[in-house]
Amino acid sequence: MRTQELRDKFLSFYRERNHKEIPSSSLVPENDPTTLFTGSGMQPLLPFLLGRPHPQGKRVTDSQKCFRAEDIEEVGDNRHTTFFEMLGNWSFGDYFKQEQLPWIFEFLTKSQEEGGANLDPHRLYVTVFAGDSMTGIPADEESISIWKKLFTDKGIEAKYVALESNEKGNELGMQGGRIFSYDVRKNWWSRAGVPAKMPAGEPGGPDSEVFYDFQTPHDQKFGKECHPNCDCGRFLEIGNSVFMEYIKKEDGSFERLAQRNVDFGGGLERIAAAINDDPDVFNIDIFDEVKKSLEVSTEKKYEDYKREFRIILDHIRAAVFILADGVVPSNTGRGYVLRRLIRRAVRFADKLEAKDLRVTNVAKKFTLHRSLLTDVAETFIKIYKNYDLVKQSNAIVPELEKEEKKFRTTLVSGIKEFEARAKDGKITGQDAFDLYQSYGFPWELTEEMAKDRGISVDREAFEEEFKKHRELSRTASAGVFKGGLADRSAETTRLHTAHHLLLKALQMVLGPEVKQRGSNITAERLRMDFSYVNKMTEEQKKEVERIVNEKISEDLPVIRSEMPKEEAEKLGAEREFGQKYPDTVSVYSIGPKDAVPDDPKFSEAFSIEFCGGPHVGRTGEIGRFEIVKEEAVAAGIRRIKARVS
Ligand code: SER
Repeated sequence: MRTQELRDKFLSFYRERNHKEIPSSSLVPENDPTTLFTGSGMQPLLPFLLGRPHPQGKRVTDSQKCFRAEDIEEVGDNRHTTFFEMLGNWSFGDYFKQEQLPWIFEFLTKSQEEGGANLDPHRLYVTVFAGDSMTGIPADEESISIWKKLFTDKGIEAKYVALESNEKGNELGMQGGRIFSYDVRKNWWSRAGVPAKMPAGEPGGPDSEVFYDFQTPHDQKFGKECHPNCDCGRFLEIGNSVFMEYIKKEDGSFERLAQRNVDFGGGLERIAAAINDDPDVFNIDIFDEVKKSLEVSTEKKYEDYKREFRIILDHIRAAVFILADGVVPSNTGRGYVLRRLIRRAVRFADKLEAKDLRVTNVAKKFTLHRSLLTDVAETFIKIYKNYDLVKQSNAIVPELEKEEKKFRTTLVSGIKEFEARAKDGKITGQDAFDLYQSYGFPWELTEEMAKDRGISVDREAFEEEFKKHRELSRTASAGVFKGGLADRSAETTRLHTAHHLLLKALQMVLGPEVKQRGSNITAERLRMDFSYVNKMTEEQKKEVERIVNEKISEDLPVIRSEMPKEEAEKLGAEREFGQKYPDTVSVYSIGPKDAVPDDPKFSEAFSIEFCGGPHVGRTGEIGRFEIVKEEAVAAGIRRIKARVS
């Protein structure tokens, strides 16, 4: 079944059940300052969940365009996309669990001829809310019994596996179960996340999720045992029924909303992947044509270059929809996210050696030199007929082209400079340094280009320059570079910012008395020595990793400020042990989300350190953080080695 058809089937299934179909809202939220982009179906419908009557009545259905910037770095595997469509059905104080769960089960399992998705019920597993002692909100017994009946009616044994059977709830194992309960981290939904994170006045509620089983073998990297919420790839969440019936009060407790709501969100692309019984979301028909034309123009196969293809497909599709909703590339906010998407796509297109390629049109009648990405964008514009992107294509395509050109200008002039300097058969350390300094060429790019041309490049001299430069900037900015930075490559810089996040996370988990006692960062890994007496437990390490990755996924801004030493001390900025600081110091703060250089919002920052940099612009650039080793180095001093991927 084609994805467009699946969308129509879902909408008509709910129209037949007296829902009014409403159009998707813009990706730019109208009255919601909490996020840059619409990331779920409920955001535009919030007022109606809180009780305002919807002009179309108490039952509506839709397919909402969604964009989740926090997933940019995840794209490249078989399931993550930044842009997706969320199929929705909504009850604003009308029906509840007794109708919702049977309906969604019916839609998912009914044959295509009868208007369903025709998924084998044996391949579906469901989760429910396990209850929460902090808020006193009870386990969702009602959903358990509804699911039991639904599966039993299909002749499927429906054993319930309770969260209590494993206290951490993340290594349940299958235990022959069909229905599983999880705590607030997995089966509670609000815009802000778990109950503790919700501000007063925010609605939320327990949810019940449906997972599709691809029956792929479990990968123990993700835990000893597999279970529906395991990330190994066997299970894919395809739908989520949120029973939105609570609101948080000023005193932090929860009370019932005036009405009980249903917010169902189904991943259109994910359900399509389940119908294909292929865990690769990029194998659904929406991507077919673009994939094919990319294969033709790059003379490379998707199968051999999955990561590159997926990043281009996802980022350009997202960019098309964001541009269509009126955002243009810039250095702040939404424009910045859009810029990142386009530039990342350009870099990955270049990895396929797809610079200014010949693009062959379908009839193969002519070839022309133009941007590969523009071609990808135009194909998406054509495919998404229901969104009428063609009308906006005059705004989309030129903006995309302009941004790609801008990005390439620096690249192109850098390459020219490289060629000029490479004429005498070698690239000196100074050359490499100048390329870095004036054209933003990372060392690796210079090295790669030199290798391609079979010429030598002097790494040692390059680093020696680097050192001098470091001394110079140290005086110039009156800042301090962290003692142990091996170089200023992109990798080292990413690890350097991760280092700041790590210190703060250690203090949160082990106690505020933890202090940094030394550091050494190379392009491969970071090493931090810190004061702490005991060996860290597995749980503590996991928690530290979780916090760091959470901050990475929040894509927080990293801001440099200069100030008198006393002021930095007053802010409680972390200092390096034994380090002497000048009267004016350079300080790096990470977060909050809306901090900007003119208004760094120190009181809300996640981390503040005396530091001369360099750092990434936003934590989202870091990648995934992982602790490799934790060991003792001296009495009362522990050492962590960690890397990012
Ligand atoms: N709001 C819920 C989600 O985003 C269901 O629509 O998962």
